[in-house]
Amino acid sequence: MVMKKRVFQQIASKRLKTIILEQDSRLKSYIPKTVWYRDDQLLSMLDKYGTVFVKPDKGGGGVGIIRVKKGKRGLVECKSLKHHKIVPMDQVHSLIDTYLKPGHRYLIQQGIPLAEINGRPFDIRLMLQRIDKDWELTGMAAKLAAPGKIVTNFCKGGKPYTAKDAVIQVCTSSASQKMIELKKMAYCVANALSERFKGLRELGIDAGMDDFGNIWIFEVNTRPTYGMFRKLKNLQMYNKIRKNHKLII
Ligand SMILES: Nc1ncnc2c1ncn2[C@@H]1O[C@H](COP(=O)(O)OP(=O)(O)OP(=O)(O)O)[C@@H](O)[C@H]1O
Ligand SMILES: [Mg+2]
Repeated sequence: MVMKKRVFQQIASKRLKTIILEQDSRLKSYIPKTVWYRDDQLLSMLDKYGTVFVKPDKGGGGVGIIRVKKGKRGLVECKSLKHHKIVPMDQVHSLIDTYLKPGHRYLIQQGIPLAEINGRPFDIRLMLQRIDKDWELTGMAAKLAAPGKIVTNFCKGGKPYTAKDAVIQVCTSSASQKMIELKKMAYCVANALSERFKGLRELGIDAGMDDFGNIWIFEVNTRPTYGMFRKLKNLQMYNKIRKNHKLII
């Protein structure tokens, strides 16, 4: 029996991937400020940005992510998939400590106020694959957060939505330009990461967009799932991704 050689590579650490992207001058402005979780960093990041996302360095599917938001009268709102509490600022650390899993490292990331469609925040998943040398952007779709959720993940009820239609609602007349910018960004991310990690074959970029149409890279998955593309009306992207995936794995 001929065994297929597994040449693809995965990078679990969000921090490591972020550092590599931050070092690229073309990508730097797309990366929300990200630091390791520490009590003093939480206070200074909250002071600076008002809202921050605390997330496991090695996690996925939105699991363990906490949105921490400064409110009025010294109160702070902490919301995750499981918890929702409002506490005075001096109790934030002890509350968050109860949410963090022992033995895991966490990051604090500048919170981005995502643009919304029908009151649901969305971000955009860009899927890149390479069979040989060159990367190809094989999928691009928005995902609308399930009502009331702080994450847009498909596995957490996020609703796939045509990317162009989502971008048009934020950027109206400059939507075509924005689509080009998103695509350029995606290829740039793929080249920057694969220069450092030679074995990468598939990437799933999660990119947010704020009300001004600014693009923000939240995370790059090196083991992206693609089930969400099956939910789009047009299955062209899904079929292409699946065909490539079978050749890669
Ligand atoms: N800094 C942020 N500001 C606003 N929303 C964010 C931020 N970070 C994450 N989110 C929301 O949470 C979702 C999940 O975050 P992220 O992609 O970083 O982690 P994950 O999905 O758990 O990891 P993976 O993508 O590896 O599965 C994002 O798609 C986005 O909707
Ligand atoms: Mg994600």
